[in-house]
Amino acid sequence: MKRRDFIKAGAAAGAASLISQSASATKLINIFPDDKISPVVIASANGIEAVKKAYEIIATGNDALDGVIAGVNLVEDDPNDHSVGLGGLPNEDGVVELDSCCMHGPTHNAGAVAAIRNIRNPSKVARLVMERTDHVLIVGKGALRFARRHGFEEENLLTDETRKIWLHWKENISDKDDWFPPEEKEHNHSVLMNERLTGTINCNALDLKGNLSGVTTTSGLSYKIPGRVGDSPIIGAGLYVDNEIGACGSTGRGEENLKNLSSFMVVEFMRMGQSPEEACLSMCKRIVEHARARFLKDKNGNPNFNVKFYAINKMGEFGSAAIKGPFKYSVCDLEGARHKEGAFLMKNES
Ligand code: GLY
Repeated sequence: MKRRDFIKAGAAAGAASLISQSASATKLINIFPDDKISPVVIASANGIEAVKKAYEIIATGNDALDGVIAGVNLVEDDPNDHSVGLGGLPNEDGVVELDSCCMHGPTHNAGAVAAIRNIRNPSKVARLVMERTDHVLIVGKGALRFARRHGFEEENLLTDETRKIWLHWKENISDKDDWFPPEEKEHNHSVLMNERLTGTINCNALDLKGNLSGVTTTSGLSYKIPGRVGDSPIIGAGLYVDNEIGACGSTGRGEENLKNLSSFMVVEFMRMGQSPEEACLSMCKRIVEHARARFLKDKNGNPNFNVKFYAINKMGEFGSAAIKGPFKYSVCDLEGARHKEGAFLMKNES
């Protein structure tokens, strides 16, 4: 994307402008060609349909938040994506509990729900928390009650497929309990059945007015202790937006993002001048430095978990990085929706 950079003294701040951090509000840096902004949407790899949908909405002049929420709703509604919404993997009791948050750059407002059951679109409820309450985060039964009061219908989010995956996990965790696996292998969900997943979708966008917003939504760590809340509904951990700087969200092991307030820090690295990709990599390094506990390390002393970041800055530059790769992420801009390779610190051994 070509940009014509100029500084205009004495002008008022406009939509396609960055106010310099060091200068007063009279210093304006225009960063877009002919004052025109090209929208950009970034998401995790499972968000290829989400970025397409979000881009369509944003490219016709709508707010970035409208775009990203409509985008992730497609994934929440998809029973074949086992990381989010309907068909998300359940907790250890076989009950699906969802976490989500959203953040709106222009108002610097945010909303979130955590451990909400029976509602397939927690991102819509998070938006209502932001827009229709004085709160930021509502959890558990309170979140469900709040959703019902706004007309959401309850449904069982465990599909027949995820029930079988859960049952396989339950029957195989111990040979000292009373649950036996079948002798014959009925079906093959090997990866999902043998690993505990922290799949999630994060989606962030820059709209035609130069405003940023983001959303993160997840069923969280599979087979978690009921009530466990990860990073996805925590502003600063699983998502952060500063409308003057950039937006970042994350997927992967939420506990490390909670301990490091990672998405906030990625935005701060961008504020310090790093590109989105550099900022994501800096955060990966920070997490690895802090992951000193033995239970976080493999036999070679490397992290035994992964975390991925998806970042976009006010100029529409974007980037993604993970502790372990290779991996892909989704993006949609003037060149269309596509997967791109993210940067990473080390090769995934598994
Ligand atoms: N990042 C999703 C989770 O840990 O719940």
